[in-house]
Amino acid sequence: MYVPTRVITNDKFVEMGLDTTPEWISSRTGISQRHIVGKDEATSDLAVKAGQEALLVGGAHASDIDLVIVATCTPDQIMPSTASLVQDRLGANNAGAMDLNAACSGFVYALGMGAGQIESGRAKQVLVIGADELSIHLDWQDRSTCVLFGDGAGAVLLRASKEPGVLSSTMGSDGSGAGLLTISGGGSRRRSNGRVAANGDDFLRMNGAQIFRWATQMMARAAEKVIAASGLKLDQVDLFIPHQANIRIMENTARRLGLPTERVFANVGEYGNTSAASIPIALCEALAAGRIKGGDNIVLSSFGAGLSWAALALRWGVNVPTHVSRWSPLRQQLESRMAAVRSALRRQERKVRTTIDERLGREKE
Ligand code: ACO
Repeated sequence: MYVPTRVITNDKFVEMGLDTTPEWISSRTGISQRHIVGKDEATSDLAVKAGQEALLVGGAHASDIDLVIVATCTPDQIMPSTASLVQDRLGANNAGAMDLNAACSGFVYALGMGAGQIESGRAKQVLVIGADELSIHLDWQDRSTCVLFGDGAGAVLLRASKEPGVLSSTMGSDGSGAGLLTISGGGSRRRSNGRVAANGDDFLRMNGAQIFRWATQMMARAAEKVIAASGLKLDQVDLFIPHQANIRIMENTARRLGLPTERVFANVGEYGNTSAASIPIALCEALAAGRIKGGDNIVLSSFGAGLSWAALALRWGVNVPTHVSRWSPLRQQLESRMAAVRSALRRQERKVRTTIDERLGREKE
């Protein structure tokens, strides 16, 4: 996982002149602080750092990856995909790369898709990254949205194995609720003046109360579905990791499921809602805190704009080393420098070819 170093605590919003209090934010959402990107940090920068960390922990070479999926709704730009930028910077030169936009549900969607590629035999190693920086779309005058979100990235390396890892997964969508959570700017639906993006269109707009009610039901239903499909009983679920949007949504979901709070992982207090990054960041922190051990059954459940939802049940089957060999980061640094050189050489080669083609064309004329 990777989160930006800049931290904004709740009292900052009062300093900014917003009509709120730190207590309102923490009691209604569970959020105390969030990490926010600096001016020059794009989503791919966060994604690369998380991806490199996952490769280090998984002891994998970037060149052995078959597919890079970046779940994000805040890509660096509309085209090309953020995943292609990440693939290039990681040096994953044998991998396909694509973005997946299912807003906050994106990571669980991507995990299901990546697992499907492996199960079908089309891939052996898939790097799944959830990365978002919704802070760039926040209206800092709107107290009902700007206090909720943070930036970050988390990554998981999926690898083919004889033991079952992903037990079952589900994805869902209800586009009738599309208007409840939007960032409309930048898309092909033109505004009234015929332009694509107008001032203010880039802001995230949300009907929080309706999302709240729907999310509680949907996360519980999706979790129940994957628990049943995996043949698990509720008391066999060792850890439930819900999308980290609001502690009250998580508590209500756990209550609906009948899960005690000690089997629910929450870190929304420190990061806010990091969108597609929220579940992989929580997974990393649960591992670091010793909340996951070999053989544990873990259920992930998420919801987001779309409206979209996804859940996945998995059996933890890997030993994540607490100490990575001293040489691995050096090797990775070398690999990523080589990737940068290779990429620069390719760009140069393309320029030279274009110049030659142009000259030959002129000579023919
Ligand atoms: N400080 C003080 N008052 C506030 C603040 C704030 N930061 N934000 C909202 N309020 C006010 C509202 O304006 C409203 O005032 P009013 O009654 O005068 O109109 C009052 O608090 C109560 O509003 P509610 O919406 O009922 O407050 P609620 O307790 O439901 O909390 C919240 C609002 C936190 C937005 C909640 O509805 C929520 O978390 N919803 C889910 C949002 C979410 O998770 N979205 C992410 C989806 S994932 C993705 O795809 C990005």
